[in-house]
Amino acid sequence: MLKTKRWWRRIRAEYLNRARHRQIVSLLRAEVFGGAPVTLKRMGNGGADSVYKVFLGKDAAGILRVRNPYQKPRPSALNAFLALSQSSIDREWAVYTKGYPAGLTPQPLWRCEDAMLCAHLPYRPLRDCLNAKNAPPFLPLLLRCAALLDRLHKTGLSHMDAGLGNVLVDENFENMTLIDFEHGPAENFSFPAQCLYDHLKLLNTALQYRPAETIEGFSLWADNFRSGLAGDSSARAYFDTPAAEAALDESKLPLSRLVNIWANPEIAAHIRALLAGGPVRQ
Ligand SMILES: Nc1ncnc2c1ncn2[C@@H]1O[C@H](COP(=O)(O)OP(=O)(O)O)[C@@H](O)[C@H]1O
Ligand SMILES: [Mg+2]
Repeated sequence: MLKTKRWWRRIRAEYLNRARHRQIVSLLRAEVFGGAPVTLKRMGNGGADSVYKVFLGKDAAGILRVRNPYQKPRPSALNAFLALSQSSIDREWAVYTKGYPAGLTPQPLWRCEDAMLCAHLPYRPLRDCLNAKNAPPFLPLLLRCAALLDRLHKTGLSHMDAGLGNVLVDENFENMTLIDFEHGPAENFSFPAQCLYDHLKLLNTALQYRPAETIEGFSLWADNFRSGLAGDSSARAYFDTPAAEAALDESKLPLSRLVNIWANPEIAAHIRALLAGGPVRQ
């Protein structure tokens, strides 16, 4: 039912934005592809933007992201952490511009006011290939994602939606890249708090996909929690706010799965120790 509703909302939003969509595709053809015809295949399903794979003949020639003003953010307690009014294209473009030279994101290629094109990579979302025959063990893979986030944070950027669906990986599980930065951080959400949020979100999806995974290796998160919390006491304070409480309490929201951490005594003890001053929530 929820899926049908979401699907319907998206169809409606795309219909309402069709005139602008046509203009964007003409601009893209003229400015990037020398007027050659392109075809689009819709990708993604979650975000406020419409995402398409662009084909030149049979070849994937890029990924187009179009801001759709008719696609309103869905209500979620997590929205308290996000700057949903900000232009998603400005943010995505700014992050890719800094992230690509650092080897963290696909290459940004073209933009207009409400759309952008980036390079297409022959990669898949990590979430979709965890059960592939050649998939490496889950936890080391996850630690590589955490390390990728660390590298992103070192460039002064945060992700704000760092789930396993937004980490792309090649078929040999060798190269990874980060995508989908459409949400910026809420105002007054300090940078250390943003970094902490990213690691919590990653940990959260880890629990979602492999809840019973060994805790060995969680020390990298431990370090990130610690440095996030130590770097700015307001980071800690942020997670004590009513908004954070609401996000953690609402059973259908992803971050609420963090509560499951406390249901596992080993993990709980581990994380309690690393939060030294007391856990974010028990
Ligand atoms: N640069 C890229 N190369 C290859 N595939 C991509 C790229 N960017 C996005 N995708 C594909 O498009 C999908 C949707 O993109 P994403 O930016 O995550 O949008 P959404 O907001 O819908 O989650 C991804 O799950 C991935 O399959
Ligand atoms: Mg995504």
